[in-house]
Amino acid sequence: MQGASEEDEGGLSSRAELWIGDRSGKIDYGLAQILSYGDIYHPEVNPDGALCMAIAENKFVGEMLLDKLNDFHASATGYTQEACNYTTPSGLPDVKVKVASFLDTFVFKGLDAGRVSPNHLILGSGCVGMLHQLAYLLFEEGEEVIIPTPYYPAFVKDFKALGKVDIVGAPCTLNKSNDLELVLTKGALEYAYNAGKSIKALLISNPTNPLGRCYTREELEMVGSFCKEKSIHLIVDEIYACSVFEKGAFTSFVEVYEENLRQGRELMPLNNMHFVWSMSKDFGGSGLRFGVCYTRNVRLLQAMNGMSDMMMISNLAQQTIGYLLADHDFCRRFIGENQRLLRECYTVLKTGLLGLGLGIIEAHSGIFAFVDLRNLLRTPKNKFVQEGEEELEQRLRQRKVYLTPGAACKCPYPGFFRVCYAWMSVAAVKELLFRLAAEKQAFNDDKDSMRIKR
Ligand SMILES: Cc1ncc(COP(=O)(O)O)c(C=O)c1O
Repeated sequence: MQGASEEDEGGLSSRAELWIGDRSGKIDYGLAQILSYGDIYHPEVNPDGALCMAIAENKFVGEMLLDKLNDFHASATGYTQEACNYTTPSGLPDVKVKVASFLDTFVFKGLDAGRVSPNHLILGSGCVGMLHQLAYLLFEEGEEVIIPTPYYPAFVKDFKALGKVDIVGAPCTLNKSNDLELVLTKGALEYAYNAGKSIKALLISNPTNPLGRCYTREELEMVGSFCKEKSIHLIVDEIYACSVFEKGAFTSFVEVYEENLRQGRELMPLNNMHFVWSMSKDFGGSGLRFGVCYTRNVRLLQAMNGMSDMMMISNLAQQTIGYLLADHDFCRRFIGENQRLLRECYTVLKTGLLGLGLGIIEAHSGIFAFVDLRNLLRTPKNKFVQEGEEELEQRLRQRKVYLTPGAACKCPYPGFFRVCYAWMSVAAVKELLFRLAAEKQAFNDDKDSMRIKR
């Protein structure tokens, strides 16, 4: 029997195209990093190796997490029979109680303990699983979601693939008085609302991916009021809530909502607010596929309960993670240590970049930062020339530096790159600075030789 040829379309549906992805053969930033995995940088063993900083994954806390997961197996608790059986797909009831208490304590910190009811939670396979469900259940095909730009590149797939929802970007603009502050304004939201044909929701990630910046209380109130004014839903993705290393910078939207409510002000209809979080970033557990959606919309909860069986978390994982999240002393230590490691690495990156005359958007949280490499563009910094950024990305790849280009995040300004430093180490960040210095030197030498030629 002959094997299937590459040209054979395989008899798939047209929907399959969306999941197959780009057929152009173009090597995007994620694939470029993956292809380099045989040659990863190590300060002693492979000092000339690849610097993999294009994918948002936290590897700083891997060992701490693994130790705790292994503890579960050694503990008296162990798995119960329901780990092997059919159970409520939207989450084991006792695990939901533990997740509710975790969110109350570590994310919605201003709330009175016990405010989050386990009945308002749906557990599912990571934030991706929750976002696909929200896209499918809140929107009609062709309706749109506003997302401030720059945004996390995979939101495009999360909304498009199942829900057939398009994204309309609300462009954050560089502050006129501070060239390195990207701010979200009401004007940007209005612009997006008017640019769209049928806007059904707004999504914010707080802290934002790729900026690592937390929204202020005022911005969150503005976001809530905007959703109320336009009668649209709000999806709040707070997957980085516990990775904030700047004290006091983070306030959950849910907390701001509750504070306003206590003062007699309903920021927006409660039914329209939907929150997601997962273990992927704050616990460095992206492979655990443990996510949660908190919503008070009863019809949505019913629909998600119905849809959950295709995105459910294995009961084995639920029981293990329930054990971890219930141990608040452990969570407090873990989160504190994670924040310390992130702050340390971020500080090395920031100080080094400024020393090189390059810039960085001030971040409040890890696991990445958005850095300003506009001074290395061969095209004018103030003109929108995307090719300039692509050309710089290629030059960086030649130095085995893999970063996420701003264009992938729909950044309105070329020349910014996301540096996912928590994928690697402080030593790797120092090496990155070394290679950027070399690139800058080569860039300046080129400019000088052009001048001499003229
Ligand atoms: C803002 C944001 N939301 C969702 C996700 C997906 O997370 P998960 O692994 O929980 O599916 C990511 C991953 O990078 C992210 O940055």
